[in-house]
Amino acid sequence: VQDYLTNGPLKGKTLVVTAGGTREALDPVRYLGNRSSGKMGIAIAKAAANAGARVELIVGSVSAELPHSDHITVTQALSTSAMAAAVSNKFQNADALIMAAAVADFRPAVLADQKIKKHGDGTLTLHLVPTEDILAKMGVQKRSGQVVIGFAAETNDLLQNANAKLQKKNADAIVANDVSEPGIGFGTDDNAVTILRPNQAPLRWSRQSKMMIAEKIVALTAKLLKVGD
Ligand code: CTP
Ligand code: CA
Repeated sequence: VQDYLTNGPLKGKTLVVTAGGTREALDPVRYLGNRSSGKMGIAIAKAAANAGARVELIVGSVSAELPHSDHITVTQALSTSAMAAAVSNKFQNADALIMAAAVADFRPAVLADQKIKKHGDGTLTLHLVPTEDILAKMGVQKRSGQVVIGFAAETNDLLQNANAKLQKKNADAIVANDVSEPGIGFGTDDNAVTILRPNQAPLRWSRQSKMMIAEKIVALTAKLLKVGD
């Protein structure tokens, strides 16, 4: 293992990996969140470290155990704007970004400074506004040689929707996830994905552990960085 760590395909490379779900505060005690466990992103961080990379792991809310490794630096960024700032900062000096986090698409338009109380008939209407798209922003900002990989969580029209994200976000690859299939995706130990790249036929990786999928994503990253084989 030690030999692989020091001579692995990602030796000398820095990868930024995001994991978990972001939370958008509603008031001092409440937030809007999602069920992401962080398992996929954490597995990618470990696999990248095993392949010799220095990893900047940026986590939102995670229920999986965080890695302890000299090769992995963990930064917590709970809200989408905190995650955007952390990614933007760490990606400047990195070779690749892998956005495995389930980032909130909307946040409350106003953050109440006091706990929201029940009123009248008890109904409450929330006004939500869009968050910034971190992956799309990094896709635009990336320098020549920097690699950006995103995920796509879909319940329908997987290839069509994921292909649209590949283009719109200027990603080098999209890991497309059918989150409607039982036993894979959110919170599970297994995953099954389809890899999309510009002008390449889709690549299907059938159901297997997230750790094995992570190793394949790391090998793909090395290939896109033109290191390893
Ligand atoms: N993503 C991001 N910032 C956001 C939303 C998503 O960086 N505000 C990233 C995710 O981390 C993922 C990719 O974009 O790598 C696709 O996320 P997904 O939720 O599948 O797609 P969206 O573009 O948000 O579109 P939608 O949810 O409407 O399908
Ligand atoms: Ca989304």
